[in-house]
Amino acid sequence: MSVRQSPAWQALERHYREAIEGAHLHQLFSADPDRFDRFSVSEQDYLLDFSKHRITEQSFQLLLRLAEQQQLRDWIDRLFEGAPVNSSEQRSALHTALRAPAERTPRLAGEAIAEAIHGNLARMGEMVAQIHSGHWRGYSGKAITDVVNLGVGGSDLGPFMACHALEEFRDPRARGLQVHFVSSIDGSQLAELLKRLNPETTLFVLSSKSFTTIDTLSNAETAKGWLAQKISDESILIGQHFIGCSARPEKMSEWGIPVSNQLQFWDWVGGRFSLWSVIGLPIALLIGMDGFRQLLAGAHAIDQHFREAPFERNLPVIMALLGVWTGNFIGVKGHSVLPYDGRLKFLPNYLTQLEMESNGKSVTRGGERVDYDTCPIIWGEVGPNAQHAYYQLLHQGTQPVSCDFIAPVRRYRAGTAAGTRAQLQSQQQLNLANCLAQSRVLMFGDQALPVEEREGRRSDQHYEGNQCSTTLLIKELTPATLGGLVALYEHKVFVQSVIWEINPFDQWGVELGKQIAKETHRAIAAGEGDFDDSSTRGLLAFIQRVQR
Ligand code: F6P
Repeated sequence: MSVRQSPAWQALERHYREAIEGAHLHQLFSADPDRFDRFSVSEQDYLLDFSKHRITEQSFQLLLRLAEQQQLRDWIDRLFEGAPVNSSEQRSALHTALRAPAERTPRLAGEAIAEAIHGNLARMGEMVAQIHSGHWRGYSGKAITDVVNLGVGGSDLGPFMACHALEEFRDPRARGLQVHFVSSIDGSQLAELLKRLNPETTLFVLSSKSFTTIDTLSNAETAKGWLAQKISDESILIGQHFIGCSARPEKMSEWGIPVSNQLQFWDWVGGRFSLWSVIGLPIALLIGMDGFRQLLAGAHAIDQHFREAPFERNLPVIMALLGVWTGNFIGVKGHSVLPYDGRLKFLPNYLTQLEMESNGKSVTRGGERVDYDTCPIIWGEVGPNAQHAYYQLLHQGTQPVSCDFIAPVRRYRAGTAAGTRAQLQSQQQLNLANCLAQSRVLMFGDQALPVEEREGRRSDQHYEGNQCSTTLLIKELTPATLGGLVALYEHKVFVQSVIWEINPFDQWGVELGKQIAKETHRAIAAGEGDFDDSSTRGLLAFIQRVQR
């Protein structure tokens, strides 16, 4: 039976029609002066305000009942204990083990994985120390000044997002070190970088869980060729200028990376959950191993909360249930993530992979086609910038969109030049005011204005409001709170997958895309291809004519 036919789902559908469909958030707030207290949870360094959702106490209780009905508690236990929750690949999804203290790490099929995890972390720490101290040298004996991460998807987005967010936590030992990210298969990022970099002092980190991703391997070949113009001895070239991070040590060896330059993780870490593994090397290079360990600790604190807190106070569970409510019952198909902090600029990109690659599925774990929506379309941008770009659609468009407003509160204390500190602090107040104002306008529409200003507004100025949003305030952005923030979203994704009965840990659609791209590449290289559609044939013919 589809979850849609289940008692808890049916009860929510009835409740929506009877109590919510015709209600405006303005009325819900007027009817309940304690609404914020009722629908907000403060936990660790985070405050989740979900009062601006179209829910009542009854909606919330019915959503919690849906979670119980779907046996969420059991699923959470199974996730943390290493059960094969990735059912199509018969694998565990133990990213939580990467950030747990050794004594809290489960055994996997009898194996003590804590040793392997902490052994690799220690090895990563040694490499970081060698690079920071200048003992890791390039072919001419000079210390490394630039590290280039070659990776894509989960092997790029997490470290890239975190390095951008945590620049101000740079380890003093990394003062002279620049960390760069190259992901695109067309070589444009690499081509630009190679113009500026010095081969003598550049180290490449080849990051690929599978070590078969053509995007990454093609960038790596170009990087190798660039170095080969200066140094002919391949063992020196790779040994001093390449580190590999992968779950496939044999493939790293085949590519020529010596074992001493290999860092490993495992099949039971999904690509989009891998920033906690050795894929996080660029983060550790920037903020040091201590900083990296704080990132892990912050995520672990949220893991503990997710495992132990009752569902009605459980942040990821609440975030997930609200997503189900707005998507499946209110019918909202778009969701925008809006950090009010430029340091979190790349968080929305990171979350698009985390959420859409995980839950962009249409078949249940049991192989049945779903008869309800799963993951919405997610996108985002730094909030104040998005205000001047696409908020008009959020405010007055025809498509309802739900939003996550995310804002670290305290900023510009230590470390900011005294002359500009006061100015920057007042900018932060302005920034927070904008964050709060936008969610208020989205919910109230015209009614946010005093009555006298509302009267006489033309129809094109009329603004309905009633758009749902969540606000997540963070006391301060630090490595630990960033870790916790990412863990909140990871667990939100997992909870939604349990409600929707889908496997969030595979990505067969993407795999098919990779396979077809390989065949097409062969055809382009050969100058001919036997395709059964006139579009591909026509496009290839044009490419061949232009490239001739
Ligand atoms: O995009 C598909 C995907 O398989 C992601 O899941 C993964 O993060 C990315 O490709 C990169 O894969 P790899 O780390 O194996 O190179």
